[in-house]
Amino acid sequence: MHTETIKEGIYWVGAIDWDVRNFHGYLTQQGTSYNAYLIIDEKITLVDTVKPDKFGQMIDRISRYVDPSRIDYVLSNHVEMDHSGGIPELMELIPQATVITSKAGEKGLRQHYKKEWNFRVVKSGDSIDIGKRTLSFVNTPMVHWPDSMVTYIPEEKILFSNDAFGQHLATSERFDDELGWSAVRKDAAKYYANIVLPFGKQVQKALSALSSMEIELIAPSHGLMWKSHIQKIMAEYQKWSNHEAPNRALIVYDSMWQSTEKIATALEKGLSESGIYTTLRNLKVNHISNIMPDVMESKLVLLGSPTLNNSILPTMGQFLTYLRGLKPQNKIGFAFGSYGWGGQAVKELVQTIEDLNWENPLEGVNIEYIPDTEELSATVDIGKSLAEILMKSN
Ligand code: FEO
Repeated sequence: MHTETIKEGIYWVGAIDWDVRNFHGYLTQQGTSYNAYLIIDEKITLVDTVKPDKFGQMIDRISRYVDPSRIDYVLSNHVEMDHSGGIPELMELIPQATVITSKAGEKGLRQHYKKEWNFRVVKSGDSIDIGKRTLSFVNTPMVHWPDSMVTYIPEEKILFSNDAFGQHLATSERFDDELGWSAVRKDAAKYYANIVLPFGKQVQKALSALSSMEIELIAPSHGLMWKSHIQKIMAEYQKWSNHEAPNRALIVYDSMWQSTEKIATALEKGLSESGIYTTLRNLKVNHISNIMPDVMESKLVLLGSPTLNNSILPTMGQFLTYLRGLKPQNKIGFAFGSYGWGGQAVKELVQTIEDLNWENPLEGVNIEYIPDTEELSATVDIGKSLAEILMKSN
């Protein structure tokens, strides 16, 4: 069976974006896909569309199965333009079609495109008969926008989950088992950490609503469909949305003259000698979106910057802005840095730790100019103390 065929009469007709490398700040090293799905039934239904510039790819794929002018329903699970961007051009071809969306979806689509399409507004618990199959809807506000919803077909046990359970990944494979759990999980974790992380409570509500459904396939709007690892990815979403992280440590820092780097290395030594898996991420060479999965999956997060112009380094400023927006919770924090005079950087790092409501059990390390052997040895001991605090935290 061709990988675009999901089941008899249901097809993946999305677009692959092989070239995109920056998705509003998210480094998409492997590109992405915008997944649209075609259901051929008495009412021919298209589930979501693609970015406007990928409209041709989608229409070409639809045309392999049906004349696009025969589409009756355009189902918009989410207004963001990577999914609704193809609707205006599509509706030029099918002005008679009905656009099915949530209440906030109708508002959002009207505000985006200023068009008087035939809208049909649905909400949680509503369903629409399309022939042999039924579309049933669950509002999932803030997973990812207020308008977001998911659509379930009970006869097929398929969940069209839109942004939930997605991954940014351009590939010719379409199903999770074609790439394997660990590869797909890695991209699903990066996606969650950079996009869904602030909405833990809403994800928990959505998971609770989905728990009564029998699901054999999750068809998200980005990346691969989940067929073989549904329970595993659901369990990960439970954990991630509950801000649960293993007892690992992450050290994020930048340095000017290697003093802060020496402190970072000494802290890493203390932690790893105490048996804690510790990851070092230098902001000079690591993109902030690649660091976020490490943040999500580390209980202890250490932040380091030298003082520059009475503040932190701009790379750390960018990272902290991103971090504050994504609001990871339930962490233990620690601040460190070096300075020539003033020494304000550590205070700013501590302020961020406090603003995020993380625990901050130890006073930060703030060393003037270059740390000497004694200071580094004391810093290794602080790493060991942090390891003890971490191990006692659960
Ligand atoms: Fe993939 Fe929120 O759009």
